[in-house]
Amino acid sequence: MKLNIGVLAGDGIGPEIVEQAQKVLDAVATKFNHEIVYTPAIVGACAIDEVGDPYPEATHEVCMNSDAVLFGAIGDPKFDNDPSAKVRPEQGLLAMRKKLGLYANIRPVTTFPSLLDKSPLRLDIVEGADMVVVRELTGGIYFGEKGRSEDGTKAFDTCTYTTEEIERILKLAFSYAEKRDKRLTVIDKANVLATSRLWRQVAQAMEADYKDIEVDYMFVDNAAMQLVQWPKKFDVMVTENMFGDIISDEASVITGSLGLLPSASVGIHTSVFEPIHGSYPQAAGKDIANPIATVLSAAMLLESLNLLDEAAAVREAVNKSLEAGVATEDIVNEGEKAYKTSEVGDWLAKAI
Ligand code: IPM
Ligand code: MG
Repeated sequence: MKLNIGVLAGDGIGPEIVEQAQKVLDAVATKFNHEIVYTPAIVGACAIDEVGDPYPEATHEVCMNSDAVLFGAIGDPKFDNDPSAKVRPEQGLLAMRKKLGLYANIRPVTTFPSLLDKSPLRLDIVEGADMVVVRELTGGIYFGEKGRSEDGTKAFDTCTYTTEEIERILKLAFSYAEKRDKRLTVIDKANVLATSRLWRQVAQAMEADYKDIEVDYMFVDNAAMQLVQWPKKFDVMVTENMFGDIISDEASVITGSLGLLPSASVGIHTSVFEPIHGSYPQAAGKDIANPIATVLSAAMLLESLNLLDEAAAVREAVNKSLEAGVATEDIVNEGEKAYKTSEVGDWLAKAI
């Protein structure tokens, strides 16, 4: 099979981690007889520096013409503390989500036995936790009407959802639950918000179509508490854009494996696969960043194209590397050798 993959490495450690994922994909291509054509494109702070736009039209074209997009990270500290900056790398991310119709962000959170001691939670609480957060990504307060009064003393952001948007994301969440432990938690703030009440209404109407799924409704504040108290109680969680931003970050740190967790943003036109961590500017160019989250994002990319054996080969190589202690400095055991980013990539490619 011939695959066209758009490569948006982005800022900070983006280029070096994406390079390792490409090594791994190349090894998969050789083993399974595929041809992969990569098309690189700029995004984020580096795109602002080059052309003044964090998601240039040329990059959008590359994404539209790709079977899938591999994404590194964006963000640069020089923009973070400057409220007057007119364009920011994050705007590129939001523009990409909207223009590609990336309506769902999927974050599987699994535990890795060798890393459980890195969890901020007690072993007995977190051991065996395994969940997926499904976040709506192109609606809600992120994209609603916003503005400031003329005298500058009042500002507003509006949260809006339509029935179609809610149905679309819930359908995807139900389908994940069907493939997993058949439990779905719908997270909202229906005691306060009109949009949440619409979410609940739509979800309740859909329950009849998924009789084998156990559906549970939880207010977001309660969910935030329960997630750290009883993480194992969750299987698939689905929620709107901003609650999902917060809950997915919370979920991702409880297993202690932030550097290992991948994500997929499912789109109408194409889908984007990226690690959940950021651009880690302090480590850029040092060959020390952990490439596993990006490599596992490449595995999700393969799965999305129904290349299941290929994805399994990637996951198996990653598990073997962890068992063998072939790991970057963030996760290596005390007293053991820390491998470089590029060495982990080489090892994985060879294992495949
Ligand atoms: C994320 C990030 C973004 C978001 C930021 C960078 C705009 O936090 O992908 O979760 O809030 O969606
Ligand atoms: Mg976030």
